[in-house]
Amino acid sequence: MFNLDGQVAFVTGAAKGLGLAMAEITAQSGAHVVMTDINSEALDVSVKRLRAQGLDVHGEVVDVADIELLARTIDDAAARFGRLDIVFANAGLSAGSGPLAENGGMAQVDLDRWNRLLQINLTSVFVTIRTAAAHMMKQRSGRLIVTASVAGVRGERMCGYAYAATKAAISNLVRQSSIELSPHNVTINAIAPGPFLTDIGQGRLHDANVAAGFIADVPMGRLGQPDEIKGLALLLASPASSYITGTVIPIDGGATAS
Ligand SMILES: NC(=O)c1ccc[n+]([C@@H]2O[C@H](COP(=O)([O-])OP(=O)(O)OC[C@H]3O[C@@H](n4cnc5c(N)ncnc54)[C@H](O)[C@@H]3O)[C@@H](O)[C@H]2O)c1
Repeated sequence: MFNLDGQVAFVTGAAKGLGLAMAEITAQSGAHVVMTDINSEALDVSVKRLRAQGLDVHGEVVDVADIELLARTIDDAAARFGRLDIVFANAGLSAGSGPLAENGGMAQVDLDRWNRLLQINLTSVFVTIRTAAAHMMKQRSGRLIVTASVAGVRGERMCGYAYAATKAAISNLVRQSSIELSPHNVTINAIAPGPFLTDIGQGRLHDANVAAGFIADVPMGRLGQPDEIKGLALLLASPASSYITGTVIPIDGGATAS
């Protein structure tokens, strides 16, 4: 049920954090994984680390803001391997502090930064979905997994405006896309993480005060570790999730329940 032997996967933002964990579990379950990221040095380190485990992965430097390159890289992967089974649209940027912080109020929102967030967190996710879905619909199978956020499910006082808005937008993009993709046996779901200890937002979660602000809303009383995304990522990437589509699944230590 969780075996991915012979499958081809593609991950954006795979050099670090949650995307790296998604790439690792997918490769450990048998898939060939195309790991893409804007950060060529970090990508190189991660690809080498996974290959040293004997995993079948390779890296491609892709800035998801370059939507032509992004689409071409997805098309090339499908052509090169003759199939495309699993795509994680994961790359995303933080918008910094939340609405109650000194520099996070709506008056402080910089519209250039706002537009950059819309590009990376929304438009590039749509292009990833659309490009991959064309291959998956043809082969009549596929798993699309989008990294949303609990900040897209409800208001989140620790996250910036553009982040909350774009994560809500991609959550509904997942529901909307499932209507078109379901008859083609292609599933699409979103993972909505609570706070995980990664380098997102220039590493702000490594700051004890920032971490404490997030943890205050988490009944389990701690941040998630990147490895803890693996179970849900594998579920949504594998045959085990054959009847799950159009959903946004929180993985948040209870944050959205409280
Ligand atoms: N860490 C959290 O608390 C948290 C919570 C909810 C959602 N998320 C989401 O998880 C996803 C992954 O974030 P993370 O926490 O692992 O952060 P991270 O910063 O550790 O990793 C993100 C990766 O994406 C890459 N990236 C950034 N911009 C890119 C671009 N333009 N093109 C290609 N790659 C790019 C980075 O180089 C990095 O390797 C994001 O969509 C983020 O919004 C994270």
